[in-house]
Amino acid sequence: SCPKIKLNNGVEIPILGLGTWQSKPNEVATAVEYALKEVGYRHLDCAWMYGNEKEVGEGIRKSGVPRSEIFITSKLWCTEHQRVEAAIDESLANLGIDYLDLYLIHWPIHLNPNGNHPTFPTLPDGKRDVLYDWKLKDTWAQLEAVLKKGKVKAIGVSNFSKRILETEILPYATVVPAVNQLEIHLYNPQHNLIEYLRSKGIVPQAYSPLGSTNSPLLTDETASAIASKHGLQTADVLLGYLVEKEIVTLPKSVTPARIASNYTGALAAASKLTKEDVEKLDGVAASGKQKRLITPPWPVDLGFENWPGQ
Ligand code: A2P
Repeated sequence: SCPKIKLNNGVEIPILGLGTWQSKPNEVATAVEYALKEVGYRHLDCAWMYGNEKEVGEGIRKSGVPRSEIFITSKLWCTEHQRVEAAIDESLANLGIDYLDLYLIHWPIHLNPNGNHPTFPTLPDGKRDVLYDWKLKDTWAQLEAVLKKGKVKAIGVSNFSKRILETEILPYATVVPAVNQLEIHLYNPQHNLIEYLRSKGIVPQAYSPLGSTNSPLLTDETASAIASKHGLQTADVLLGYLVEKEIVTLPKSVTPARIASNYTGALAAASKLTKEDVEKLDGVAASGKQKRLITPPWPVDLGFENWPGQ
């Protein structure tokens, strides 16, 4: 079974989870059922914004795996910062469950809830409709309240830089975020931010650990050479590299063979990688390959190193 990590509130999280961003509604139910029933995944990473939570819920029920054995995460979309509990209720209803294991603020950005588009409101000049004056501590206080009520077992953030954590969350928080979910992979390893998170007891989670769609990581020379040396696939090494660092890793796939190999391959790679392999992989981004692969559609300085356009 999958190794677990203890969060700062004692809740245990399986180190591998199935990502569901960009999984089409008509594919995700089968993918989730397969992952739970046939492979042994016990962790699903979801979000209201992915538009497929109903179908994820179907997959959970079809798998026959009891709810209590599965770790389920959802996320607050950017338009919903003023109605956190209602947004959680919506995700719970969509998934067909009565509590979440983890709930995250999806981005440190509040978009206009009365804007012209339900998820990505735009202004007449084409810019995103961002409410710049909103205080994220007021969002966080609502997550703390819902945690107290028991609708969620742990709370955290996603896409938060050190600067935003230090200026907008930690000085006001009663509960320190349990996790920060970030774009973490071979070409965007975020070494400094992860070290900072560790110092605060915040567990890093990696989304797009394989580099998302049309990934340049799958043909990376260093990762491929290490993979063939150990008789592994390059994807296994990309995932095992993160697992071995105790980063919660969330590969997305709707393809049964990949859903299976990502799970078994990541665990195999995590145990086979040598200290020397890891050092080589640690240096890849700094050798000229540093690249964020996910560019959010808002022109806001979020305080990250290596943010596109800075
Ligand atoms: P698919 O879902 O069609 O199988 P990430 O987890 O970094 O976001 O990457 C997800 C992307 O990588 C998806 O396009 C997914 O395709 C593909 N993918 C997932 N697992 C593998 C794998 N083991 N080998 C190659 N591509 C993969």
